[in-house]
Amino acid sequence: MKTQLIHDLEALVPRFAEALAKADASDLEAVRVQFLGRKGSLAALMAAMGGLDPQDRPEVGRVANAVKARLAELWQQCQEHLAQKAQGTMPFDAGDPAWVPHVGALHPTTRIQQEICAVLQRMGFETVSGPEVETDFHNFEALNLPPGHPARDMQDTLYITERVLLRTHTSPMQVRTMLARRPPLAIIAPGKVYRRDSDLTHTPMFHQIEGLLVDRQVTMSQLRGVLTALVQAVFGASTRVRFRPSFFPFTEPSAEVDMSCVLCAGRGVLDCGEGCRVCKGTGWVEILGCGMVDPAVFAKVGIDPEAWTGFAFGLGVERMAMLKYGIGDLRLFFENDSRFVRQFA
Ligand code: PHE
Repeated sequence: MKTQLIHDLEALVPRFAEALAKADASDLEAVRVQFLGRKGSLAALMAAMGGLDPQDRPEVGRVANAVKARLAELWQQCQEHLAQKAQGTMPFDAGDPAWVPHVGALHPTTRIQQEICAVLQRMGFETVSGPEVETDFHNFEALNLPPGHPARDMQDTLYITERVLLRTHTSPMQVRTMLARRPPLAIIAPGKVYRRDSDLTHTPMFHQIEGLLVDRQVTMSQLRGVLTALVQAVFGASTRVRFRPSFFPFTEPSAEVDMSCVLCAGRGVLDCGEGCRVCKGTGWVEILGCGMVDPAVFAKVGIDPEAWTGFAFGLGVERMAMLKYGIGDLRLFFENDSRFVRQFA
């Protein structure tokens, strides 16, 4: 009876410690009551001491008191620990799992945009930025797209009011720059643009980089030189570039620029023999629109078209990122999945 009771009393300590380890601030008191309360485990064992031989009672009584003191001490420690934890003042504990800081990464759109802008800055272009909510004048009219012009159909516009809209391209930055400064000038304007478009290959918001150079006797071969150097700086010296005649109301002549497909090295077929889906088997992918600034645009912003010439280009940033990083689906850019973003860190 005596040894059994001593054993049961001593066993309370590890049981209590285990219960405390699992407890949080809200059930700490319940654990205390269960072990130390008037009807708790310790009280029950102490009551059983009444059945002991009188000469055994002092010894068991000493054990009971020691156990009681130990339980009280453990409870006190646990309570302090939980209170500190709640306040965030926990002393350093080398046994805690390591705290791994969540390190962010640049989005591939940001990455390629910075890279392209850096190349153009080295050539002497200065970066400028302007509003995404634009006037009809800056987005269309001054770019030789008067109201009712059929070319406006090329871009499905998101209107705020009849005269205010989300810019459909970065070209209004040509207008803003030429209204604010006198030539010679060379600027690039990266930023978001918006169109009423949403399918596998089009999103309502995407990024462009606009380029504009105005000087005396600017030629199309200079435009070609700048864009070829840009593409080769970003994609490698063996990348080929081709200019196809095109039309934009604000440039004349105009061209669309294709580069040789990076995924199939311009061959149209992959090593496995399958047709390349990125260039649809043609070996070329379109990356930008460009041309010589139309004299009508110079006239709109008060620059003498007889004295000044210029070129402009507008490049799709997501398209460049897809080619550079081999991203097959445009929608991945906008899903906000940090695992996607971290791949490019
Ligand atoms: N703004 C045109 C577009 O978004 C691209 C472009 C820019 C074309 C500058 C020519 C000159 O499609």
